[in-house]
Amino acid sequence: MAETSADREQWATRLGFILAAVGSAVGLGNIWRFPFQIGQEGGGAFLLVYLLFVVLIGIPVILVEFVIGRRSKQSPVKAFSELGYGNWRYIGGLFVLTGLMIMSFYSVAAGWVLRYTGGSVTGAYFENPEAYFATISEGTMTIALHGLFIALTAVIVAAGVKRGIELAVKTMIPALVVVMVALIGYAATLDGAMAGYSWFLSPDLDVLAENWMSILPAAAGQAFFTLSLGMGVMITYASYLGEDRNLVEDSGWIAGLDTLIAVMAGFIIFPVLFAIGATPGDGGPGELFIGVGGAIAEIPGSHIVGLLFFGVVAIGALSSAISILEVLVSYLIDSYGVDRQRATYGMAGLIFLLGVPSAMDLDTLGLIDGITGGFMLPLGVFLLVIFVGWVFPRSDDELSKGLKSGAEGRLPQLWLWYVRTVVLVVVAIVLVFEAYNQLVAFGVIG
Ligand code: PFF
Repeated sequence: MAETSADREQWATRLGFILAAVGSAVGLGNIWRFPFQIGQEGGGAFLLVYLLFVVLIGIPVILVEFVIGRRSKQSPVKAFSELGYGNWRYIGGLFVLTGLMIMSFYSVAAGWVLRYTGGSVTGAYFENPEAYFATISEGTMTIALHGLFIALTAVIVAAGVKRGIELAVKTMIPALVVVMVALIGYAATLDGAMAGYSWFLSPDLDVLAENWMSILPAAAGQAFFTLSLGMGVMITYASYLGEDRNLVEDSGWIAGLDTLIAVMAGFIIFPVLFAIGATPGDGGPGELFIGVGGAIAEIPGSHIVGLLFFGVVAIGALSSAISILEVLVSYLIDSYGVDRQRATYGMAGLIFLLGVPSAMDLDTLGLIDGITGGFMLPLGVFLLVIFVGWVFPRSDDELSKGLKSGAEGRLPQLWLWYVRTVVLVVVAIVLVFEAYNQLVAFGVIG
């Protein structure tokens, strides 16, 4: 039976909601995408801009999505008509398109992770990690594992908000943190540890000064990608929330934990890369697999360390993919009254087909990653900021529900003015820079 607003599910517990949102945020973005972005974009300089972006822009934008979701109690596409702004539903259409595109390549990369998880048991990549990555990153088996990953995601989403998503993330996130802490301890013992930390943590301001027009949009895109912003995930998750939640506090937890896990990934990956003499960034999308896979192959207990590491990355990828699929599924449920099972498996089938080109060709995967992360998510954020800042009256009232009076009580107005002005201008600049960089890349301007 189709779900209606009246019987719409809610999170069973506060922790469940936070973990689901953290589960969405933490994923391949932190452990796979972040390290090669930072490698390609200037190391510590990129880290600095990225961190500033998360705090100054990311957290206020999480609140933008939360306010829309909790107020409308609808999926992103329906949310706008529910709030009385039907013409804005096209943004919901943009989100659905972005979600389909992200899922199409995300589950291909997650399929590689599944392959490496299994390969750790058999030792398949220990001999020659580079050649192994080249064989597994494209082709028929890649398509099959992409399909397997989507199927896993779909089974959880089909089970619903409480029994499926909430239960799954409650076990996944703690497991992920425990294994990463153990791996940080291991990486610290490597010869390259000091060189890795200092490359990662010391921003070179000259690099920043020379490349700020490319670093800023890349850092912004990475921040939105890793926080799952700009395509309605946080709108959808907040639509299952009660009025008593303190949204400001929750946004801090989500951004804080997500950033912590990205930085933790850096503390594993850069020591490892320096230990094997690799240059960060050179490996592109294969970096995690070639670098970390190669290092794991060298150490005692490779089988078990590899299994734990890639197993944990797979878990992170799964809890993020769940959230993307949930946006697409809730769209079919809320807009067309399709039942959850059918909506889930229908979308999963479509994503499978859309992912085939990325599974056949690494460059296609990189291209779709670049378009979605670099342009579509920032565009989604830009439109949401205009809506909440200038169109939807009294967004700040919605934010104030669940806050204490006193100092906290003044936050909503401050937030609204900040979003209307600073956030709007910064995101507009990001879009202009990104458009300029693309025009230069395609040779349209010199
Ligand atoms: N935040 C996820 C990650 O870092 O892996 C990826 C993601 C999920 C991006 C949901 C966008 C999104 F809407």
